[in-house]
Amino acid sequence: MLLIKNIGILQTPIGKNSLCGEAQAQNLKLTNAAILVENGKISAIYEDGKLPNLSSVGECEVVDADGRLVTPGLVDCHTHLVFGGWRHNEIPLKLRGATYLDILKAGGGILDTVRHTRQMSEDELFEKSKGFVNEMLAGGVTTVESKSGYGLNLDDELKQLCVNKRLNEETAMQVVSTFLGAHAIPPEYKGKPNKYIDFLCNVVLPAVKEQNLAEFCDVFCEDAVFDVEQSKKMLLTAQKLGFKSKIHADEIEAIGGAVLAGEIKAISAEHLIATNEQGIESMAKGGVTAALLPATSFYLGKTYAPAREMIKNGIPVAIASDFNPGSCPSLNLQFAINLGYLKYRMLPEEILTATTLNAACAIDRGETIGSIEVGKQADLVIWDAPNFEMICYRFGSNQVKTVIKKGEIIQ
Ligand code: NIG
Ligand code: FE
Repeated sequence: MLLIKNIGILQTPIGKNSLCGEAQAQNLKLTNAAILVENGKISAIYEDGKLPNLSSVGECEVVDADGRLVTPGLVDCHTHLVFGGWRHNEIPLKLRGATYLDILKAGGGILDTVRHTRQMSEDELFEKSKGFVNEMLAGGVTTVESKSGYGLNLDDELKQLCVNKRLNEETAMQVVSTFLGAHAIPPEYKGKPNKYIDFLCNVVLPAVKEQNLAEFCDVFCEDAVFDVEQSKKMLLTAQKLGFKSKIHADEIEAIGGAVLAGEIKAISAEHLIATNEQGIESMAKGGVTAALLPATSFYLGKTYAPAREMIKNGIPVAIASDFNPGSCPSLNLQFAINLGYLKYRMLPEEILTATTLNAACAIDRGETIGSIEVGKQADLVIWDAPNFEMICYRFGSNQVKTVIKKGEIIQ
């Protein structure tokens, strides 16, 4: 049993479903609060200095928050954290004017990471990504989604997904696994994207399903990668096998990915830097959560997704890091929070919802995490700050004081 007392402000969105429109800005704020945790779950919440009668609750560890802010553990709902190598070698190319897609078309970019990932053993990849998840935990992230997509053949895709499974089982981080075999066209299928999609649908997806290694299927729907038809085929085949759909949509060009997300009722569409009116309309109609990745806009020097437009149109907005070696070599979700305020012009309350409850719903975990409510998992952050405005405002420093995952103090 654990009691966190003397919480200056307890701030949280409320509910099990994603919040949109004005509701995204509604956070519960309790002052002088306390949280009681039993068996890894929140069993009671107190405010105004009230506390449980400790003699009646048995043995109890007590943490004094000393007037600090407490929020739900952050949820990073979009990452590519299992990969070989890095891509700092792209810097000179970029400084000479090459774009992200120029590098990919020339056989570098994602394909460079594929070469390095294929060369690493499962154990080596596990050790490398364990370092990343520990750094994420220290930054207040208690659940992370992790995509494959740097294997692009049967064995190496399964290898990446096995690393996800081990990270979930062997570290304090909760890891939710997504199959992204359709991330790029591998050299073995150069010029034959349809054949590659057939291979994924007929061979790899059934194997992933059989070994229960992923819950979601994602596609990089983009100019010079997979078009709308190919993406649709991949995601609908996956839906038939029981995978929920995610889609990298309108990251660089609006080729119809967000429209497709709405049509096939994807759980989330991600990136959406270049999305347009049709995309927004279709997502709103299909109940799709927009997972926005501002640190990728920052690193690629692109514009920022129209977050306010989406909120105005009733689309629940989540914010994630997109950590990967090519378009966002940062796993710092607090930096994405800063950009949410500075570039998306979102309110601190909207941003908290975007990085907790809405992010949890983007990975279908709204029932158990994403808010501080009796019955939910006790995933909590005590911040070295008095309020969430401070988290949006200060950048470049880790403002976390203590991280609690399933009722255990881990940092
Ligand atoms: O989300 N866009 C596709 N996938 C990643 C980048 C992957 C990479 O460049 O290695 C993204 O930006
Ligand atoms: Fe991504």
